[in-house]
Amino acid sequence: MIEIQNVHKSFGPLKVLKGIDLTVEKGEVVTVIGGSGSGKSTLLTCINGLEPIDSGRILVDGTEVHARTTDLNRLRQKIGIVFQQWNAFPHLTVLENVTLAPRKVLGIDKAEAEAIAEKQLRHVGLGDKLSTFPSRLSGGQQQRMAIARALAMSPDYMLFDEVTSALDPQLVGEVLETLKMLAEEGMTMICVTHEMAFARDVSDRVAYFHKGIMAEIGAPEQIFGDPQHLETRAFLASVR
Ligand SMILES: Nc1ncnc2c1ncn2[C@@H]1O[C@H](COP(=O)(O)OP(=O)(O)OP(=O)(O)O)[C@@H](O)[C@H]1O
Ligand SMILES: [Mg+2]
Repeated sequence: MIEIQNVHKSFGPLKVLKGIDLTVEKGEVVTVIGGSGSGKSTLLTCINGLEPIDSGRILVDGTEVHARTTDLNRLRQKIGIVFQQWNAFPHLTVLENVTLAPRKVLGIDKAEAEAIAEKQLRHVGLGDKLSTFPSRLSGGQQQRMAIARALAMSPDYMLFDEVTSALDPQLVGEVLETLKMLAEEGMTMICVTHEMAFARDVSDRVAYFHKGIMAEIGAPEQIFGDPQHLETRAFLASVR
């Protein structure tokens, strides 16, 4: 599980996370919603140790992410992260792009890494694109390739940061369907999203971030149906 305990984080004078507490259990899907600049992306980058924190603790399966003794490379193998956009290597095929990390990072041999990559690409519906180059994929297909690439490392956790927000509207659905499939398979996920219907549909819990504070967290029915905080209400009214 992921345990976030009283995490504070600043960029210079700017306080971006102001005491975040959140525990994500195995198999749970937590979506994070909130206005621009509220600290959502920063939280994800802190969870996988891309960013240091000022105080508090983040534990992944009991390992403290920011402890000096923690092997971050090893920890990150457990945590897949997918961003708005991932720049695939243009001179490599889709299969080669997905094969790269298992080979380089996990040291898996070529044939086995290709088998893993092919399995994950089929899983996200790209079984017919293995030898295609990334520039020939649609935006939605590119994002699904990025998801397959993360899955090829056999992560225990997946973090998604607005993976659909750079996409044309007609391509959003196929990527959300892929996330939904992973959720139904029991993947433990934290999804930052602007897609409220998705958050309502897929989440076990929805967290609302406001100016570096987790103002509210609860079941989707509660957050969307009966938000307790003024800010949550105002935010939801603004995105409806
Ligand atoms: N590397 C950085 N250096 C300095 N400031 C940063 C850095 N990364 C983020 N910030 C600032 O921290 C604040 C929180 O940013 P963050 O990206 O976490 O917000 P967000 O909730 O993900 O917003 P959005 O919905 O726009 O993606 C913002 O004011 C942002 O400008
Ligand atoms: Mg963000």
